[in-house]
Amino acid sequence: MTTPAQDILVHHEQGVTTITFNRVDKKNSLTASMYSALADALENANADAATRVVVFQGDVAIFSAGNDIGDFLKRPPVTTDAPVFRFLRVLATFPKPLLAAVCGPAVGIGTTMLFHCDLVYAGDNAAFSMPFVNLGVCPEAGSSLLAPQMLGYHRAAEALLLGEPFMAEAALEVGLVNRVVPPTECNMVTQMQARKLAAKSLASLMETKRLLKKTNTEELLGRIDEEAASFGRMLGEPAAREAFTAFMEKRAPDFSKL
Ligand code: COA
Repeated sequence: MTTPAQDILVHHEQGVTTITFNRVDKKNSLTASMYSALADALENANADAATRVVVFQGDVAIFSAGNDIGDFLKRPPVTTDAPVFRFLRVLATFPKPLLAAVCGPAVGIGTTMLFHCDLVYAGDNAAFSMPFVNLGVCPEAGSSLLAPQMLGYHRAAEALLLGEPFMAEAALEVGLVNRVVPPTECNMVTQMQARKLAAKSLASLMETKRLLKKTNTEELLGRIDEEAASFGRMLGEPAAREAFTAFMEKRAPDFSKL
C-alpha cells in the first residue's frame, strides 16, 4: 500500500504550491489519509508566506474518481471532524487564490471541490459528475448550495438528481470552468495563470477573494455541516450499502426493494 505522502504530492515553485493527486491506479480516488494530507497541505500553504497561489492537478487522463468507495465502507466519515470534512472546511475558507487543472473524469468531490476554486482550466476530455443519489447518499462540499448558485437551479437539479456526467464544453458554458484546452496543455496553462497571479500583490489578491466570497461563507459552512450530518447518516443506510457493495462487486446496484 502506498503512503499518503506518495498519493498526494506537494511541490512549491515561484510562489505557487501545486498539489497533485497521485493515485492513478485507483483513479485518484481519495482515502481518509489523503484528505488529511490535503488539509495539511492547504494549512501549510496558508501559513507559508512564500505561497501566494495553490494549484490542484491530477493526471492527464483522470482528475479524481471521488471518495475511495472501499475506504468509505471500512471507515465511513460519520462525524463532522472526519478528515474529509476537515479538508472541506479548510478548502471552503482558504484565503489565497485556488486554481485547478482538470483532465478526465472528475467524480463526486472531484467536481464539488471545484466550486471552491477561483479559476478552473479543463482538458477537453474532462467529464464532471456528482453521482451522490446513484450512491444512495446526498450532496457534499456545500454543493447543494453552490451548484444552484453557479449552474442555475434546473441544471444543478439535473446534475445532482440524475448524477450523469457533463463534458468540458458544457462546464464552460455554465461557467464552472474558465477555459477548455487540449489535455496535454492543461497543467501548463494552469501553471501560467498561477504564475501571473503569484506576481501580484498577495494582500490585494486575498482582499479581492475575501470580498468576492463574503456573502457566502457563514451559510456555506453551515451547509457543509448539514450535508455532512445527512451524508454520514445515509452512509450506514441500506441504499448506500447496496450501491457501494455493487461497485466493489462490479455490478449495477439494485434499489428496487429499498
Ligand atoms: N473508489 C475506489 N476505487 C476506485 C474508485 C473509487 N471511487 N474509482 C475507481 N476505482 C478503482 C477501481 O475499482 C479499479 O480498481 P481495480 O483495478 O483494483 O479493479 C481501478 O480504480 C480502475 O477503475 P475503473 O472503473 O476500471 O476505471 P475506468 O477508467 O473504467 O473508469 C471512472 C473510471 C472514474 C469513471 C470509474 O472508475 C468510476 O466511475 N469510479 C467510481 C466513481 C464514484 O462513484 N465515486 C464516488 C463519488 S462520491
